[in-house]
Amino acid sequence: MRVLVTGGAGFIGSNFVHHLLSDTAREIQVLNVDNLTYAGNLENIGDLKDDPRYRFFRADISDAGAVGKIFDENRPDIVVHFAAESHVDRSIEDASPFIRTNVQGTQVLLDASLKHGVSRFVHVSTDEVYGFLNENDPGFKEDHPLDPSSPYSASKAASDLLAMAYHRTYGLPVMVTRCSNNYGPFQFPEKLIPLMLQNALADEPLPVYGDGRNIRDWIHVEDHCRAIEAVMEKGTEGRVYNIGGEAERRNLEIVKAILKALAKPESLIRFVKDRPGHDWRYAMDISLIRSELGWEPRISFEDGLKSTIQWYLEHRDWVDHVISGKYREYYSRMYGERLEETS
Ligand code: NAD
Ligand code: TYD
Repeated sequence: MRVLVTGGAGFIGSNFVHHLLSDTAREIQVLNVDNLTYAGNLENIGDLKDDPRYRFFRADISDAGAVGKIFDENRPDIVVHFAAESHVDRSIEDASPFIRTNVQGTQVLLDASLKHGVSRFVHVSTDEVYGFLNENDPGFKEDHPLDPSSPYSASKAASDLLAMAYHRTYGLPVMVTRCSNNYGPFQFPEKLIPLMLQNALADEPLPVYGDGRNIRDWIHVEDHCRAIEAVMEKGTEGRVYNIGGEAERRNLEIVKAILKALAKPESLIRFVKDRPGHDWRYAMDISLIRSELGWEPRISFEDGLKSTIQWYLEHRDWVDHVISGKYREYYSRMYGERLEETS
């Protein structure tokens, strides 16, 4: 089984690649396609460099020529598509890379997958495509209207629709997964949990948007990876699957929990100007994936946060490299020739 993963040098993609290869008895080839934006970090997958079941290709998914060549030469059976511009605040600054990668890049991959007759295409998406919920609304179901608030979520909604259209028009075996907020190892420290952790460790202010009462549904990345694997193996073509951790928390609760775990004072909290178009609340109804595929989250938020804090404490070098941009040197040192070869 040859699985082409896009965005496998990013947070969730690198966890998924590790997840797939963790079973050493599994007969699998993983082809990791990533163009190494600021969020792509080869240190996340440095340990796999010499694994014969794994290959890395540096390519931009919106480059049809480069993607076509990888498909022609490697003939993947399955595509799991993570690559995206993923940060809401960046999309508010500049939407262009979001449209190019998330929309055009997805179209390029869909075309290549169609041409090569892949047997499964898993499009990894987000709960943010549904817009926001009010305080007492029931969680999002898969048929909830798409009502995105940010350029990021609008670009993801566009890519979801494109993927489903390729199923209806061409019969491409597409499945779309929509997941809630992830946390865990290798998350770039621009997202809430690793950013707050980092600032707290450095005794710097923790910027909380608005009044900090916004709610997210948190899931540990390992639970998300198991869900994607279940969809990849057993999902029904043409179907959307919601994935969530059933762990709704207010932002402020999380920030306080991090400060407490690190024995840092709450006086580090700074309430700052709210994010424009800030979604109030996300919550997922995961009854479909639970009943159809037998998946459910296993890691409680409290255990997951504890182990994530521990991971960041034990990987200060990783964070320091990311913050200083030093991880970019790692590319040429560890991958120099291979990067040249595949770029
Ligand atoms: P990330 O930003 O950490 O990683 C994205 C990866 O994609 C990086 O390695 C980057 O180099 C690569 N990439 C970006 N543009 C590319 C391009 N044009 N060509 C090739 N590679 C490119 O993102 P993440 O948090 O790991 O998210 C992965 C996917 O999961 C995204 O599609 C995102 O929308 C979705 N998702 C994320 C969350 C979350 O909480 N982080 C929740 C639900 C869904
Ligand atoms: P984020 O991690 O950016 O994920 P998303 O916007 O995709 O949900 O943000 C999670 C929540 O934390 C969101 O409500 C915005 C808030 N937030 C802050 O209050 N301060 C920050 O510095 C960041 C990055 C996020």
